[in-house]
Amino acid sequence: MKRERLILLTAVALAFIGLCSCGNNKAKEMVTTENFGSFEGQEVSLFTLTNKKGDVVKLTNYGAAIVEINVPDRNGDKGNVTFGYETLDGYLEGDAYFGKVVGQFANRVAKGKFTLDGVEYTLALNNGPNSLHGGPTGWHSRAWTAEVLKGTDFPAVKFTYSKPDMEEGYPGNVVAEVVYTWTDDDELIMDYKVTTDRRTVINITNHAYFNLHGTGNGDILDHEALIRASAFTPVDSTLIPTGELRPVEGTPFDFRTPHLIGERIGEAYDQLVLGGGYDHNFVLDNVEQVDAEVYDPSTGRVIQVITDQPGVQLYTGNFLDGTQTGRGGKVYQYRSGFCLETQHYPDSPNQASFPPVILTPEEPFLSSTTYKFGVR
Ligand code: BGC
Repeated sequence: MKRERLILLTAVALAFIGLCSCGNNKAKEMVTTENFGSFEGQEVSLFTLTNKKGDVVKLTNYGAAIVEINVPDRNGDKGNVTFGYETLDGYLEGDAYFGKVVGQFANRVAKGKFTLDGVEYTLALNNGPNSLHGGPTGWHSRAWTAEVLKGTDFPAVKFTYSKPDMEEGYPGNVVAEVVYTWTDDDELIMDYKVTTDRRTVINITNHAYFNLHGTGNGDILDHEALIRASAFTPVDSTLIPTGELRPVEGTPFDFRTPHLIGERIGEAYDQLVLGGGYDHNFVLDNVEQVDAEVYDPSTGRVIQVITDQPGVQLYTGNFLDGTQTGRGGKVYQYRSGFCLETQHYPDSPNQASFPPVILTPEEPFLSSTTYKFGVR
């Protein structure tokens, strides 16, 4: 009798422990981890985040990148809508920025130079006469450390990169964190936190390319874009802002009401000619919750962009040329993807009239951007 009671109690206790650990691992079970190779001695993984709808996002800690986003069209057929490579080698050999987190300074710094507190800093030039996206070995080209978050309501993964002082010419021992959360409403939330031990500059973004047909299925000129921006920052021939904030009113940059991306892209407007299409920072009005939205009438898919950043770069894949083959053997042709890179304005360290980009040891940089997917 005593023995039976003991067995029963043990069984109840084991069941309880089992239940508890299920509870604790709730979020963990929504994230699976596979080996994706290694980079400079550090393990690289592929993380698969599955929400309650069964919609899937894949991430890797190499470049803290978004690798895949699988969301349904209006008939419920799922497809991958973002650029990524099948293997880590693809990332090492291919385009530097697909889906990556870009830092320490996203977009361009003119002539690779800026002055902070009376000291001139020099950056590597990797884009004609300018420095682009944190330089050739910026944050996009590093293996970040990874942590699958536990006890969260939705699948979430945190990536961290500790940048040594003066790496790529930027002052400060800087710690950058991004937490990706994939909600049951198909929102991919990117929460950033960046700290420094010394005054420096910061501009961080995600460089995902999207094609709402599903990647590899034609161009994005038939996608309809809405951008809540009353001005944009015109550029010179090396794509450095001139300092002007030009009203979009009466220009092909007016997306305050929806327009097809391709509707005006071929116009002989000076900025479209200089950019080879749209490759410009829009000055967000930041007055409504959704800052930008792109809709594909053929599949019904919609992406909404919500950010606390003052700008967004609309880049229409003008430099894509069909030389990159991504997941599922998809070839990324000219203008077959668009980016909406939420950011501070390009070249801000050299443009006194732009919103400030100085990061101090006293105050961390905190920011959040959401890509929300749906259908119409
Ligand atoms: C820039 C483009 C550049 C692209 C690289 C964008 O953010 O504005 O000019 O070619 O990144 O992938």
